[in-house]
Amino acid sequence: MSKPIVIAVDGPAASGKGTLSRRLATQYGLRHLDTGLSYRAVAQALMAAGRPLDDEALATEAARAVDFSAFDAAALSAHAVGDAASRVSVFPPVRRVLVEKQRAFASQPPGAVLDGRDIGTVVCPHADVKLYVTASPAVRAGRRHREILRLGGQADYAAILADIERRDARDMERADSPLRPAADAHLLDTSQMSIEAAFLAACAIIDDALGGRN
Ligand code: C5P
Repeated sequence: MSKPIVIAVDGPAASGKGTLSRRLATQYGLRHLDTGLSYRAVAQALMAAGRPLDDEALATEAARAVDFSAFDAAALSAHAVGDAASRVSVFPPVRRVLVEKQRAFASQPPGAVLDGRDIGTVVCPHADVKLYVTASPAVRAGRRHREILRLGGQADYAAILADIERRDARDMERADSPLRPAADAHLLDTSQMSIEAAFLAACAIIDDALGGRN
């Protein structure tokens, strides 16, 4: 059997990497893992049990118990859970436990698209293709704001922008596995692109890279 294909998609919060990754997985017949959900699951478990988020040992125990086959995406999508996830994700033992599970997922045939912050740099440094998807903080905040309004919710643009900037800083400045493009990542700045244009640009990069593999 041929070696699993791995496509790494990294980028900051609200960059559109999740939507893009799901479409890429369908397009190339691969499985998809949103690694953010694994950090969210740790945070959610602690919050549900009324435990503090700043206890490394408790967070590591919660990480060991995370089951990748049973994510409750609806419960994990809450805004507060995302913020809490970026707090527990700074603990190196939490990262080690989750990275091991993420690698196991990636190694199953036929391969997978993994999206997150450190896929190309730490989780799958030998990925067949690495994409780093980004957009300016203002564009990302605008997209998230419109999405919340579209779903009938209420949102304050300035608060969303401040939140995105705070999360970027936490993810980029942490000591262990900070968010940054791998040296061999293809940069995809979607500030001026539609979702469709971003998808087509990503496919062109992947076709080119996989063409060289076969
Ligand atoms: O992508 P998402 O917003 O769901 O991620 C939630 C948080 O989990 C991020 O802000 C980041 O701190 C953390 N994360 C991470 N490494 C990943 C994926 C997510 O540290 N590979």
